[in-house]
Amino acid sequence: MSATTYENYSPGLQGVIGGITSVSKITVEESRLEYRGYNVHDLASKGSFEETAYLLLKGKLPTQAELDEFNATLDAERAIPSQVVDALRACAPGTHPMDMLKAAYSVLAGYDPEYDQEDPTDHEVNVRKAIRILAKAPAIVTAAYRVANGKDPIAPKSGLRTAANFLYMLHGEEQDEYTELVMDASLTLYAEHTFNASTFACRVTVATLSDIYSGIVTGIGTLKGPLHGGANEEAMAMLLEVGSPENAEAWIRDALATKKKIMGFGHREYKVGDGRAIYLTEVAKEIGRRKGNTKWGDIADIMEKVMREEKNIYPNVDFPAAYAYYLLGIPIELYTPIFVMARVSGWSAHAIEQLDNNRLIRPSCIYEGDLDKAYVEIQNR
Ligand SMILES: CC(C)(COP(=O)(O)OP(=O)(O)OC[C@H]1O[C@@H](n2cnc3c(N)ncnc32)[C@H](O)[C@@H]1OP(=O)(O)O)[C@@H](O)C(=O)NCCC(=O)NCCS
Repeated sequence: MSATTYENYSPGLQGVIGGITSVSKITVEESRLEYRGYNVHDLASKGSFEETAYLLLKGKLPTQAELDEFNATLDAERAIPSQVVDALRACAPGTHPMDMLKAAYSVLAGYDPEYDQEDPTDHEVNVRKAIRILAKAPAIVTAAYRVANGKDPIAPKSGLRTAANFLYMLHGEEQDEYTELVMDASLTLYAEHTFNASTFACRVTVATLSDIYSGIVTGIGTLKGPLHGGANEEAMAMLLEVGSPENAEAWIRDALATKKKIMGFGHREYKVGDGRAIYLTEVAKEIGRRKGNTKWGDIADIMEKVMREEKNIYPNVDFPAAYAYYLLGIPIELYTPIFVMARVSGWSAHAIEQLDNNRLIRPSCIYEGDLDKAYVEIQNR
């Protein structure tokens, strides 16, 4: 590509306003993220993932009665059709977990009772579809993992909320309350994040008056990349390489000296720290104490201190998420699929918002190729 700079063109669309939203807002100077006006720190530390999903999809915090009804609907919608499991089984050995999720949601679309929706902009139908998409995410993520590892999926257990049901279907038994709390908080913190790449891609898809499932499949495909969703897995790979608190300082100084990117640190938007990392660090360290394994928290402290001193760069949400999930015994290849389990709520909220006031998204581009070339018959080339 040319190195020419153009007026009104920003590579990567950095700084370009891509739309108007009332789903979430980042206040960069204060490292604050709000979902519909509520600080995510409050939602994660005082609320539940389901309250957050309700807020994102319906625009307000639920009353207790509304939350009970929402949880009952999620409960009734958690199971996935056997044909979705068949589709997961049809994936080639070694298929990337995110590709398995795309396959599952593509097949699931046709089993939605409102698949034949007449008007793709119908708000109420789209909310109902979003709730089904959200409800089934833990069963899809765990079935994909279990099938890929030669195991049968475990059916969801009635009465368990999203985080608890995910852990149950993954491990085959219910986990303790604090383990569920850590998972629940991480889902809240991963649920939504303004116009990131996958959310924007999801909005582009639905803006053609395609459907909300297609938007979700687009979102998953976009989140798969290591520049977006994959950082939590890479952060854990790095922590495993560091291995011990004794090794941490030398490891990170050496990595910085050789200009390595430290996974789980830095952010395009937040320059003075990612607010989501604060509460997740707290609970990740607490789960370490409860499990009698404070090693990862100790390594994290040392790495954070050196990064602050040397680069003035802070951890992002993926750093504490990585060792929190590790301490919960979650396989590393599930870290990005867990992100999907949370983010389907944000993607859906954006898809609905887009369709409520739709206009096709179709940017312009600058052409740099040749023009006016004479066509030469194939036999004369
Ligand atoms: C997230 C990220 C892509 C944001 O990048 P960005 O805003 O484009 O910032 P840049 O990559 O231009 O970095 C600016 C400077 O900070 C440094 N920097 C940024 N993140 C860094 C990191 N994680 N480790 C080491 N140095 C980092 C860059 O090397 C660069 O330094 P220089 O000016 O001396 O060359 C980047 O911080 C990163 O790659 N982080 C690691 C991956 C990650 O955790 N992603 C999840 C994000 S939620």
